Amino acid sequence: MAKIRDFHTLQKRFLTPCDVAAEDDTVDPFTLVIFGGGGDLSQRKLIPSLYHLFIENKLPDDFAILGLGRREKTDEQFQAMMMEAIRDFIPKYYEEKKAAAFVEQLHYLSMDVNNPEAFQTLCHRIKDLNTAEWGNLLYYLSVPPEILPVIVKNLNGAGLCRDSAESKIIVEKPFGRDRESGNELNRLLLEAFEEKQIYRIDHYLGKETVQNLLFFRFGNSIFEPMWNRRYVDHVQIMVAEDLGIEQRGNFYEQAGVIRDIVQNHALQLLALVAMEPPVGFDADLIRDEKVKVYRTIRPVPKNEIDKYMIRGQYGAGTVRDKAAQGYREEESVDPQSNTPTYFAGKFMIDNWRWSGVPFYIRSGKRMPRRQSEIYVQFHQPPLQLFGRICDEIEPNALIFSIQPDEELTMRMNVKIPGMTNRPQAVDMDFNYEDAFQVKQDTPYERLLIDAIRGDLTLFARQDAVEAMWGVVDPIIKWWDDHPAKDFPNYKAGTWGPKAADKLLEQDGHRWRFHKQ
Ligand code: BG6
Repeated sequence: MAKIRDFHTLQKRFLTPCDVAAEDDTVDPFTLVIFGGGGDLSQRKLIPSLYHLFIENKLPDDFAILGLGRREKTDEQFQAMMMEAIRDFIPKYYEEKKAAAFVEQLHYLSMDVNNPEAFQTLCHRIKDLNTAEWGNLLYYLSVPPEILPVIVKNLNGAGLCRDSAESKIIVEKPFGRDRESGNELNRLLLEAFEEKQIYRIDHYLGKETVQNLLFFRFGNSIFEPMWNRRYVDHVQIMVAEDLGIEQRGNFYEQAGVIRDIVQNHALQLLALVAMEPPVGFDADLIRDEKVKVYRTIRPVPKNEIDKYMIRGQYGAGTVRDKAAQGYREEESVDPQSNTPTYFAGKFMIDNWRWSGVPFYIRSGKRMPRRQSEIYVQFHQPPLQLFGRICDEIEPNALIFSIQPDEELTMRMNVKIPGMTNRPQAVDMDFNYEDAFQVKQDTPYERLLIDAIRGDLTLFARQDAVEAMWGVVDPIIKWWDDHPAKDFPNYKAGTWGPKAADKLLEQDGHRWRFHKQ
């Protein structure tokens, strides 16, 4: 009898046994080598995140961080620079004594990554740090994408400075410029490392609300039955920024919105919404399901790209009451630039769950505000019982707000109190900060710890990256070959070009935010 009951209870395969503490967050000693150690990402995100982990006692006693860069600098100068970065970028946690103790673990080496011999010096330096017995060496490539290949080649030439099984490599997006260069980069990476040693960072996957999508979908039993074409009308995925391109003109001119946001962040979100339930909470089991989604996205024929994929570039305008210049006037940008800063597109997923349900993606720079969210709209009831003929009834919706607020909202209709029989939409909100009294500072902390501990779940796998390029490559190519005639076509501080509104209107939908 007992056996039968066991067999029928909730299945818990793939989970950690109970003799391991639930919150076992021990981290083994590590050496982290950052290419581009003095760069922007390092100063803004990586070092401040590591410092915060340090003061929260989440780092082990033994660790070393070696920053690499072209500029000559002593360890002391590098440490002073990073003290400043901590103070500037994470001021609420800055404490001089603690920061001083943290930066003692920071070191610096100036090197020319094009010179293979410099990698011998690097290996010696790693050895001198006397961290050999720690057995956990991570290379973080925080450098412009065009330098990645030469670093990987030269690292490989130097035998990765260590028995290769003890090394890992963390690579920042974009992973290549297109499918072909992405594959080439991967070939190089795989000459030096095994797939399980490669951590392709997409910082969106480290965001709490993004991770929560999996918990929401697969930790509850009430939503999954309606998570399909029978109940879902359409999905809107939005990554809107009020910022322009800041000082990154050179990078952005090469990238544009598709390579910068759509190929990675937006398609990651789409996969989390659309994927089938994984059979366990394990990196490859989850990544297997995501890759299937990309493979079922319907390719848009060339002659229909302009109909379903809308591009935009911002002109001068006003953002948050401040005058903003147009993209073509930004530093290091070609005054005739064809680079899109805005994208809106309709994607169809050809599988049993989603057939016929449009997934709209929208992303842009210089929009009215910073707002990333996933909006899932459900079908209307088949018969409008309440209100008058002219009353519009709001459809049910689930809204996952990723930023600025981390929130989950369920929209439903209720009766307005009193003698009338009229419905009104109300929102049931769950706000992370209110509920847990925490607000995530940056997703990098989680991702760095996962990489150090060897958990690949929140990192992209090559087959997915390749499939994501497969989705966007034809659009990028078409746009490159057919420069936009109407750029700039939206004013800074607005929700994008009119054509993007039409894209939804022709399907009888509306963007959640659209008023200019
Ligand atoms: C980065 C892009 O990957 O994501 C930037 O390169 C963009 O252009 C940023 O501003 C947006 O990230 P977040 O976390 O601010 O939404």
